Amino acid sequence: MRKKFIGANWKMNLAYQDAKELYTALSCMSSSSCDIVIFPSALYLSEFSQQKGLPLGAQDIHFEVDGAFTGSISASQLKSISCHYLLIGHSERRQQFHEGNDLINLKVKRAIASELTVIFCCGEPLEERNSLGHLDFVLKQLKEGLKEVNETDLQNFIIAYEPIWAIGSGVVPSNQEIQEMHGFIRKSLSDWYGAALADSIRIIYGGSCNESNAFEIFSIPNVDGGLIGGASLNVVSFEKIVNSF
Ligand code: PGA
Repeated sequence: MRKKFIGANWKMNLAYQDAKELYTALSCMSSSSCDIVIFPSALYLSEFSQQKGLPLGAQDIHFEVDGAFTGSISASQLKSISCHYLLIGHSERRQQFHEGNDLINLKVKRAIASELTVIFCCGEPLEERNSLGHLDFVLKQLKEGLKEVNETDLQNFIIAYEPIWAIGSGVVPSNQEIQEMHGFIRKSLSDWYGAALADSIRIIYGGSCNESNAFEIFSIPNVDGGLIGGASLNVVSFEKIVNSF
């Protein structure tokens, strides 16, 4: 039985005081049925990590160990403040910062070397969905992003399926569409890594998941939780989502 996982992706939202209050409020929550991880702005990670609240993750890293990379954050810097989770390949990074599968693969390898738990994001744009290229598109993201990732490394991975057209749009795929993609991702992992390992990997859904649709989405076979953007900025909404299992 896979333990559920819920991530709160705050993106570039919340000024310091609001972020601190929200993190403190959310940290009063506990759930025996799922892991809850907060991904705030990197600015706040260091201070929040000293509060001993919910586990924390970063939204991005640079793939190099260290050096002259103005504005970037390294995997070892995250480890040094007890931040153990990391989003890689979010579609906003892929689109706005032109991150391709090769760069994402470098980040994946750096995260593995630093023993971070990776939430590997994938998902197709609307054109691919409309032309029925969505499975091939996601397959390529997985294949190239996970290049040279072995069985031991993959154990520490969570895959987030986030169709780009569903992120922040209020549009959610049908249950059948989510089920098809999650089943397809698990089958692909099984082909590459074997059924036992593929069966243990959590595959979560992201894209306009909120307190009204979470229960239904989380009931779909092969959906092991969610990556929540907008709805994670509100304590009441997020709590309802966490209690949707
Ligand atoms: P959303 O974002 O819940 O606001 O659609 C999800 C995400 O980008 O991870």
